[in-house]
This record gives sequence, C-alpha cells and structure tokens, in this order.
Amino acid sequence: MDFVAELSTLISQETDLSTDIVKDFLEVPPQPELGDYALPCFKLAKTMRKAPNLIAEELAEKMQPLPDYLTEVRQTGGYLNFFINRSRFIQDEITSILHSEQEPGVSDLGKGQTILVEFSSPNIAKPFHIGHGFTTILGESLARIYDHLGYDTKRLNHLGDYGTQFGKLIVAYDRWGNEEELLREPIDELLRIYVKFHDEAEQEIDEKGVSILEKEAREAFQRLEAGAEHETQLWSRFREVSLIEFNRVYDRLGIKFDNLNGESFYSDQIPAVVEMLKEKNLLEESEGAQVVRLDEFNLPPCIILKSDGTTIYASRDIAAVLYRDKTWNFNRNIYVVGLPQQLHFKQIFAVLKKAGEPCADRCEHVGFGTVKFPDGALSTRSGKVIKLDDLFAEAVKKTRQIIETNATERGDDMSAETIDAIAEKVGLGAILYIFLKNGRERDIVFKWEEVLDFDGDTAPYLQYTYARAKSILRRANEVDATADPSTLELAAIENDTTFQLVRAMADFPEAIQNAASANEPFMIARQINLIARLFNKFYNNDSILNIEDTNLRQSRLCLCRAVCRVLKTGLNLLGIEAVEKM
Ligand code: ARG
Repeated sequence: MDFVAELSTLISQETDLSTDIVKDFLEVPPQPELGDYALPCFKLAKTMRKAPNLIAEELAEKMQPLPDYLTEVRQTGGYLNFFINRSRFIQDEITSILHSEQEPGVSDLGKGQTILVEFSSPNIAKPFHIGHGFTTILGESLARIYDHLGYDTKRLNHLGDYGTQFGKLIVAYDRWGNEEELLREPIDELLRIYVKFHDEAEQEIDEKGVSILEKEAREAFQRLEAGAEHETQLWSRFREVSLIEFNRVYDRLGIKFDNLNGESFYSDQIPAVVEMLKEKNLLEESEGAQVVRLDEFNLPPCIILKSDGTTIYASRDIAAVLYRDKTWNFNRNIYVVGLPQQLHFKQIFAVLKKAGEPCADRCEHVGFGTVKFPDGALSTRSGKVIKLDDLFAEAVKKTRQIIETNATERGDDMSAETIDAIAEKVGLGAILYIFLKNGRERDIVFKWEEVLDFDGDTAPYLQYTYARAKSILRRANEVDATADPSTLELAAIENDTTFQLVRAMADFPEAIQNAASANEPFMIARQINLIARLFNKFYNNDSILNIEDTNLRQSRLCLCRAVCRVLKTGLNLLGIEAVEKM
C-alpha cells in the first residue's frame, strides 16, 4: 500500500482539502520522536478560521478510531503528528519491492506521450569536450528517467554540422590539410587547420581592409549551401570522421540516439520557413537581414536570413521544431543545452508562438551551468581543451589503481580483466555523477579528490555500497538469500535505522517523478545516496549472517536484496552501472 496516499485520503476526508493538496502539505518531522509524518495546521488556519493548535486537536479526535496502518495521532503545537505502524510498513514495502516484476519506481505516468530529448549535439570538427559531457550525461539521464516513467522517449542529436565555420574549414583544408593526419586523429587535425585559419585570417588583408581568407570562407560556405561537389564532399568527410570520434564516447556510455539529423538536414527546409513567416507578415528587413521582431516578448529580433542571404543557426532550429512536430507529433520537445543559449531558445520559441504554431508551447529549454578545472576555463581557440574521452581515460586509470590497492589489501587476487572491467564502470560512474549530483544550473569545478572519494557523495560510494550488499548475499546460503519475504515476519528487523531505510526506499518512486518534473536527476542521486548511507549504518549496527534466528537472518537479507534493487535502478537512471564486486 501507499502509506502517504492513504494518509492523505484520510486527512482529506476530515478537511475540505483535496488529497493532492494534503500530500503537498505533509512533512517529515525533524526528529523521529515527533512522529513519522506531520500536518502543519497553520496552512489550514486561514480557510478554517481557527488557531492551528485547535485544528490539530480537533482533527486528532475526529480520526479516532485509527486505521490499522497508524499507531498514534498526536497534536503537538500547531502540528498534527502521525505515527505509522512500522511493522506493517516494513512488511509491505520490502515485500512489494522484492515481489514486483518491474524495477522500483517504474510507472505508466507518461503513457501515450511522446517526449523528444535533444541532447549532446556536438559540433562537427570540434573536440568533444567536457562541456559536451554535461549535455550528454544530463540528457541521457533524463531520457532514462522518462523511459522509466512510461513516456515514448526519443533521443535526438542535433549535430552542429553546418554553418559558416565549414566554409573556413574547407578553405583551410584545401590550403593546409593533411590527409594522413585526418585519418589518424580527425578532430585534432581539423582543429589544427581551424586554429591556423584564424591566425592567418588576420594576416592576409585586402586593400579594403577585409580579410581575404574570411571572404573566401564565406564564398565556400555559399557554394556548400548551393550543393557544389567539392565542398559537399569535403564537408561529408569532416562529418564522417568526426562521428567516428563522437561514437566512441556514446558507445562507452551506452547511448543510442534515435535520430542524428544535424543542422544541415534542415538547411533546405529554410525556404519554407521563410515563406511561412512572410505569409504571416512577420519578416522585416533590418540592416539588410531578414528578421522577426519580438518586442512584445521583450526579446531582441530573431535573425532568419543574413544580409548575404545565407541561413543561420536560429533559422535551422525553427525548421527543426516544425519538422519534429510533423514527424513525431510530440507532446514535449526538450533541449538539453547550456544556459548561455537561453536567449536563443527564447527567441526560437517566441518566433513560433508569434507565427501561431501551437507546438511552441510544448518546447522547453533545459539549461545547465559550466564545467571548469580549478586552474581555469576551457576554450577551443586557445587549444587548451579537455576532451571528455581523455577525462574518462584518466578517471578509469586512477580508479584502477585504487581498486587494485584495495584488492591487494583484502588479499583478494582479482584478475587483471576483472579489475579493468570494474575500473571502467567505476571510473565512468565517478565522472558522470559529478554532472548529476547537484542542480543542473550550478557551475561545476572539477576536483579529482572529490570525484574519486569513495566515502563521499560520489558514484563510487554508491557502487561500493551496492557491491557490499551483493557480497553479503553471495556469502549467505542459497535458502537464506532467496527466502520469500511474504513468508517472513520482516518486522523483526525494525529499529530506527531500518525504518528510515525502508522509508527512504518507499520515497524512491516519488524522487524519480520529482526529478522528471524539474528535469533534475540530482533528486534521484540524493535519494539513493540517503539509501546508501542508511544501509551502511544498518550494516554497521546489525549482524546479518551470524545470527541464530532464521527469521531475523532471512529478513535482514531481504532488506539487503531490496536495497540492491533500488540502488541498481537509481544508478541506472543516472546512466551509471552497478558493479557486483569491487
Ligand atoms: N551544436 C551546438 C553547440 O555545441 C548546440 C546545439 C544545441 N541544439 C540546438 N537545437 N540548437 O553549441
């Protein structure tokens, strides 16, 4: 049973409030002595026109006789405090976690709804740096969360495979490109010529003071948009070799996109967009460019066509929304893109709104902060950029050392392959978690000590806790480790810690739903961290294997099993793999 739901219904019957409002009002008292749930009655005082403590007192009386899932209802000041029947709670929760065929927290909340999650969207020919790590990791986690809640989720990668920078790359490659290098280290080579282009562009100036290279690049881009053969061929090489590098990262993280339509895909849909905007009388000329004014939204005008007639980033995004609406008839279309692009998305959605496109209201920008190392920012121009894949490699290497040392200290002779496999999962987990442990809009300063702290708020800590619980189950005999919870008196395990632990697991489904509504995976991270802390406390306080009492031993093992299920699911929703042994 859902205790909170039952309790909310009960309170709702005695007040004029809906169950949803009551559910919202219910709190967990700061000290367990006060009760397991509390209704702050001052929230009712205004409508009931009574003092909070009086309301609490009267409600406490009205609720007698208590239903069997409550043991006591007590008025304390302006609060009505509820003590739930812990034995029953523990029995119900553990049994339902272990009996359910579905993973904890799975629901059909999103059934029949299509949600597009656009994330990662790196730029061709540019390094896949740790900033892209943010969108990639956050986006995949959100997609997993929506999958879990029954949405029809589509993972979209809006590749940055178009734009004037390709004109620059084409010119640069024709001048300085090295075929061999392009095959060996594609993105490094493309980056090298791109940086060179910018260095040289400042040198070669014509008599009017215009950079010759910049001019050539603009022309090359125009030829590319017109479909010229040489330019198109080079462009598709760049795209192809870049994707090989990007796919290395996606494969490593188990990410599979449903669609990789990049910006280029939308370029020939721009004339239709321009036509539509013209028809609705929304296009205006401004300094030679075609723009849509957005004064009524308090936004600067959105440029649709530049003065030279070429399209830009924004127009391709407008075409993309319309295309997606037609293709998927989406209920929601979310963009996991950094906060610096907030204005861009506001403009896109406003243009669509102004054009009377209903899909505008179903689009949402999910922004996030920046990532830095303590010694400074990361930028492409300076060449000092940290690739995500290199960061993974570093984390895995460092993790491997820790795992190996720990194993040696334990006298455990794990094979090199086993250590490698564990280090891969734990090392990646450590990095992923850094992006997911806090609110997404917060900036991240990346510190290794924090990333790999096996006792801190980290994925390795969670993975370690899971592995520890698994190892207890491995050491137990078969009968004990598979006992049916419904045949046991699970209440035997009850104490404050185990009750809090079971309760934290009971709150897990709600944490997932909250994470979805706020697009904040940290809410799941926080919940499983709480579960892991409480589990470790239980493990330190209560013996599990070395006890005579069969019911107690098997019941505690049931708790271990339930914790494993919840932790594994929670980690998975963050894109992190659990490890059986560590
Ligand atoms: N490629 C862009 C970048 O790396 C991000 C694209 C975001 N998505 C979009 N639909 N505009 O900055």
